[in-house]
Amino acid sequence: TWSQVPQGPPDAILGITEAFKKDSHPKKINLGVGAYRDDKGKPYVLPSVQQAEQEIVKKKLDKEYAGITGVPEFVKGAALLAYGPNSAPLKEGRVAITQTISGTGALRIGGAFLQRHYPHAKTIYIPTPSWANHKAVFLDSGLEVKQYRYYNKDTIGLDFDGMIADIKSMPKNSIVLLHACAHNPTGIDPTEEQWKGISDAMKEGGHYSFFDMAYQGFASGDTDRDAFSLRHFIEQGHQPCLAQSFAKNMGLYGERVGAFSIVTESTEEKARVDSQIKILVRPLYSNPPVHGARIASYILNDPALNKQWLTEVEGMAGRIIKMRALLKENLEKLGSKRKWDHITDQIGMFAYTGLTAEQMTQLAEEHSVYATKDGRISVAGITSENVERLAESIYKITG
Ligand code: PLP
Ligand code: LMR
Repeated sequence: TWSQVPQGPPDAILGITEAFKKDSHPKKINLGVGAYRDDKGKPYVLPSVQQAEQEIVKKKLDKEYAGITGVPEFVKGAALLAYGPNSAPLKEGRVAITQTISGTGALRIGGAFLQRHYPHAKTIYIPTPSWANHKAVFLDSGLEVKQYRYYNKDTIGLDFDGMIADIKSMPKNSIVLLHACAHNPTGIDPTEEQWKGISDAMKEGGHYSFFDMAYQGFASGDTDRDAFSLRHFIEQGHQPCLAQSFAKNMGLYGERVGAFSIVTESTEEKARVDSQIKILVRPLYSNPPVHGARIASYILNDPALNKQWLTEVEGMAGRIIKMRALLKENLEKLGSKRKWDHITDQIGMFAYTGLTAEQMTQLAEEHSVYATKDGRISVAGITSENVERLAESIYKITG
């Protein structure tokens, strides 16, 4: 029956984990997937998450279905975290929101909603480069995918002028995907000034903004600061939509906790949008899983635990910043002829090293250091112990 089914390629990111597992090198290093590790290289369950989980177990809650749009206290807390306590649309009750299967599910529901209901376009513009899964998510949602300039490989920085020029040349009312903070894979974000320019250019074209916020808290360690772009756009009169993930900032990866929201014009419009979100979700997965959302809800709504969590987020962001500095320091100590300032200039979970696909292959084959072929490394996988070996491996390849 399936003789015509062709063998597909391994996933650009998750395929790296598979290759890593097959390697028998005792000191192999996995910097592929963006998943936080502690300084011993172990997955990290946040103490706030452990505590919330225990409280939930104690309550002996039932396992009934959630509603189609999920656990109500969770989505309320998620919206407050993203939009902030002073958000006009939130206070006015005109943000439609649904719990989703983590950030990917939020993007997918968003893509499907726009495909079905956005009246002006069926194309979404994503940055070059973007998270490897964006294109597939939006294509599978039935949208056409085009790109705008973002990364300047000569400066290893933002191609701000190119980005603005591309936004200005898009057809009126285009849909534009923006990484709210901690751009994946480059680790390069616009400054607050540049965000203002982007907002103006978007407004001029009547464009619709779709924010992907998978790393709130991971860029600066401060969840409010990391929400600047989204909140600024709203203050400027944009009515964006938003995909949120709690995979990284709560370490809830496998629990698949996320949310998708749309800022609408009025409570009446919100009600209509809500009804259509439900019509999309019901035949896809009926309703989302409850356990992870209950954990996140507890952390978002309990003031003491929330405070603790914010400290833990800061701690994760801080360890990553430390590892960036150590990697750069070690490369310089070895006498590398290259400049590595971008490793400490970039923010979030990833460093975009500037290494070529061939060099990345060499890193894996000769040094058992695994990361994606675009030269991205997950700094969250670097530890005090492996950083020297990592620097040596990179040095041997780049000189
Ligand atoms: N968007 C970006 C930019 C990401 O890097 C990720 C990966 O974490 C996601 C969305 C969604 O991830 P998840 O579905 O694990 O929440
Ligand atoms: C990554 O980019 O490594 C993460 O966002 C995880 C994923 O699902 O790709």
